Amino acid sequence: MSSTELLVIGNWKMNGSRAALADFARAFSGVSIGCDAGLCVPFTLLAAAQSALLGTELRWGAQDCSEEAEGAFTGDVSAAMIAECRASYVIVGHAERRRVHAESEGQVANKVQRVLACGMTPIVCIGESSEERDANQTKAVLRRQLMQVIRALNHDIRSVVIAYEPLWAIGRGQIASPGLIEEAHGFIADAITFNAKHTAHGVRIIYGGSVTPGNAAAVFTRRLVGGALVGGASLRAEDFMAICHAAATCAQQRLAAWTQ
Ligand code: PGA
Repeated sequence: MSSTELLVIGNWKMNGSRAALADFARAFSGVSIGCDAGLCVPFTLLAAAQSALLGTELRWGAQDCSEEAEGAFTGDVSAAMIAECRASYVIVGHAERRRVHAESEGQVANKVQRVLACGMTPIVCIGESSEERDANQTKAVLRRQLMQVIRALNHDIRSVVIAYEPLWAIGRGQIASPGLIEEAHGFIADAITFNAKHTAHGVRIIYGGSVTPGNAAAVFTRRLVGGALVGGASLRAEDFMAICHAAATCAQQRLAAWTQ
């Protein structure tokens, strides 16, 4: 992976429909987006995404998977089932799953392994709550969440995308300040370099939490930000496209700076 490439992932959460997906796909059909990008849809839209997004540069993925391979787990969906829809990405450990479904760090690590075993890329969400930030626990929380995954993968997380999503910035319209994003990304990169078998250069660290077309460029220009995980603003094709274009512009600027 070149360090100039950015990744923009949409997370539709429990929103959308076949009609909305068809409209979204139409807006991207034949359009050059200039960055790596994907859309993580509800399970019921995965098969539709497989056909609708084929004529676009977007890849597609799911928002969760089971930590089990198969069997008597009513209501769950396995990584293999998601892979059958030719998905590229699975979001794992999103704050809403850790909080609402009480997902443990061990479960998150198991899911990451399932996703990798099926040839897809896990997008592992880590981040602190406002209470944890106020109590000066941000680094401890990030380290703990990250270490669980690093250990589970035998200290090689080059096939994983890390999404830093402070809980207090998700769905609030209140983005973390660029300085704070850079600080957290720097801490995560250092933690990877110190604890993995490789440096952080081979790992994409993306930011999530109230990214919009209006603030995307300011996020992308920060050091160590490798892209964005976008919730609300991914529901409108034109907003998501604008964020992808901001990522493409930033990548060109980084490349120009590197080759000067
Ligand atoms: P948001 O969601 O962009 O609506 O804040 C981000 C996320 O939860 O992944």
